[in-house]
Amino acid sequence: RPDAKDDTPGAQERKHETLYADLLALIDEGLDPHSPLPSERELMQRHSVSRMTVRRAMERLVQEGRVYRVQGAGTFVADPSTISKSLRLTSFSEDIRGRRMVPGSRLLLLERTPADLACARDLFVAPGTPVVHVERLRLADDEPMCLENAWLPEEVVPGLADSGELHSLYDWLDRSGAAPEQADQTIRATVVDPRQAELLGVPPQFPALQVERVTRDVRGRAVERAVSLYRADRYDYRLTITREP
Ligand code: GLP
Repeated sequence: RPDAKDDTPGAQERKHETLYADLLALIDEGLDPHSPLPSERELMQRHSVSRMTVRRAMERLVQEGRVYRVQGAGTFVADPSTISKSLRLTSFSEDIRGRRMVPGSRLLLLERTPADLACARDLFVAPGTPVVHVERLRLADDEPMCLENAWLPEEVVPGLADSGELHSLYDWLDRSGAAPEQADQTIRATVVDPRQAELLGVPPQFPALQVERVTRDVRGRAVERAVSLYRADRYDYRLTITREP
């Protein structure tokens, strides 16, 4: 069943899910902690899948802490006792309610657009694939808190572009069978540009916290690439971290 033969819609997704499930079974039942996983080439041959499919499944296992990579040596089964505990994935609305404020949203843009390179990379689609772009000003107690851009593959969220008022994107995804389950997040300091300053109601060059998130849904599909720009005077990012023996 070589990769190239099945090009029906969703074929990529099915191959990914099957390989991922096979590798999980191998890790859980067939291999001891710290033993090596088969090489990329072996996996491609054994499972009749492309290099991209192998890399994607491996990447997911790395991110989930099930395997780890050693430069130049390969990929190994993680010791379950050292898998770090995951933090809770929340939406803006949940996050703000948790801070005892009332979340709000002003929809600035909701449109179909071709995936650019960043979307293609994060959402595992070819550049130019239709994605839905949502831009919202996020409010907390009616005051601007965050400027948020999200891009979602239209195939995964049919109907989103025509959904009208969007109070909570994650509520919409929950109801549409694409409930967010896990995300990779990068946080960096930045300053706002003139348009962002105007929308957020801050002076030009004001400091901001930029949170980039790639979200996977309950079926493991990349469902969202989002860039959220938080006003530095209104938002901090808190983590509880534990020192392990
Ligand atoms: C957070 C995330 C975004 C996500 C948003 C959804 O801000 N960083 O990636 O799109 O939550 O929030 P809501 O469900 O309130 O629209």
